[in-house]
Amino acid sequence: MSKYIIEGGRRLVGEVPVIGAKNAVLPILAATIINNNTSTIFNTPNLKDVEVMEQILVSIGCKVSRVDNVIFVDSRNISKINIPEELVREMRSSIILMGAMLSRCGEVEISYPGGCEIGPRPIDLHLKALRQLGTIIEESHGFLHCKAEKLKGCDIQLDFPSVGATENIMLAAVKAEGTTIIRNAAREPEIIDLQNFLNGMGAKIHGAGTSIIRIDGVDSFNSVEHNIIPDRIVAGTYMVASAITGGEVILKNIEVEHIQSIIAKLKETGCMIYNNCTTLKIIGPKKINAIETVQTLPYPGFPTDMQAQMIALLSIANGTSIVTETIFENRFKHVEELVRMGANIKIAGKVAIIKGINELTGAKVTSKDLRGGAALVLAALAANGRSEIEDTFHIERGYDCLEKALLALNADIKKI
Ligand code: UD1
Repeated sequence: MSKYIIEGGRRLVGEVPVIGAKNAVLPILAATIINNNTSTIFNTPNLKDVEVMEQILVSIGCKVSRVDNVIFVDSRNISKINIPEELVREMRSSIILMGAMLSRCGEVEISYPGGCEIGPRPIDLHLKALRQLGTIIEESHGFLHCKAEKLKGCDIQLDFPSVGATENIMLAAVKAEGTTIIRNAAREPEIIDLQNFLNGMGAKIHGAGTSIIRIDGVDSFNSVEHNIIPDRIVAGTYMVASAITGGEVILKNIEVEHIQSIIAKLKETGCMIYNNCTTLKIIGPKKINAIETVQTLPYPGFPTDMQAQMIALLSIANGTSIVTETIFENRFKHVEELVRMGANIKIAGKVAIIKGINELTGAKVTSKDLRGGAALVLAALAANGRSEIEDTFHIERGYDCLEKALLALNADIKKI
């Protein structure tokens, strides 16, 4: 198992390009299944989860090839309806394969998914919606067998604006008979990217990015080329890296509109931020200001995927900050590791109370999930002395060559 060794205390300076979003490319790769044609996808990150999704596509009969950051998928010869269990268990978002497979084959067999250990992640909203569209779902021994003679468009009111459920419904409904309306849909930029990809191949979807999405079923699709949107969480993580080290970092190839909630909070901590639409410069303050409240919310609120990194930053702020996690239960596993580095943080249910200290101390810590692991890297960059961060595979699920990017920004980091 690999780990990062970081000597903290260096100011990060320089430029870093931001690659395409993991959470956009995964549903889009699933969407290629629907198309009895070819898909070319540009600006894709080279990540373990993306590789797992590519392997899943190959396992059902797609031809998949990658050249640098371009993935090419030929889905003309799909021959299987069962998704290999060992691959599904590696990645929770494999659940969106259900909608895509039902569209293409009318049938799918899949095990309950795995993924990040951030509390219970039920799929009840997915199953309820797919049943509304006419799917018969049988659950037994950890497997789901789903079948639909003909999916029929319908009105779906989501109890919560779940990102994955919204995507799954869009994928299931593109070929359904008639019109599907999703109300209380998730509004994340990745949903818009999925709409753009699907419309590029001939689907008729309107409204992504708002709470009401309308999908008119169509019968056939064409080959498609698509450019993945920049990863707003990777961008936010580099922004915090600059903030926490009092650095001066320029981010390239970003979509500033997608990170407004992160910009607003980092400005409150005292960061100076200058930007145009696709480039942003962030200068960290001498001393971080505490923030009264940060609350994670569905987009356009502050993202839960930036909560851990924000806590790392606020752990060395001037004063007490309160961070409330409203999206996931049990998403504070990074806190006990930050405490090992000297942070003063108390958890009460969904709330973290962070009393800023002067300086973190390097320590041996373990990354328990993707964003929590990234938070430990950020803390180590600012800490006094040497840190060892174990189980970096969690971090590498979401960051393409993190240590190389940080090295180029003047960090003292190596992977062993
Ligand atoms: C996606 C992102 C993930 C991000 C999350 C919230 C991908 C691949 N992952 O995950 O990085 O942290 O959005 O922005 O895009 N829920 C239910 N029942 C369901 C579905 C969800 O109760 O059927 C609950 C979840 O347990 C959670 C909340 O809804 O508490 C949000 O989940 P959801 O928006 O579905 O997140 P994901 O799509 O899994």
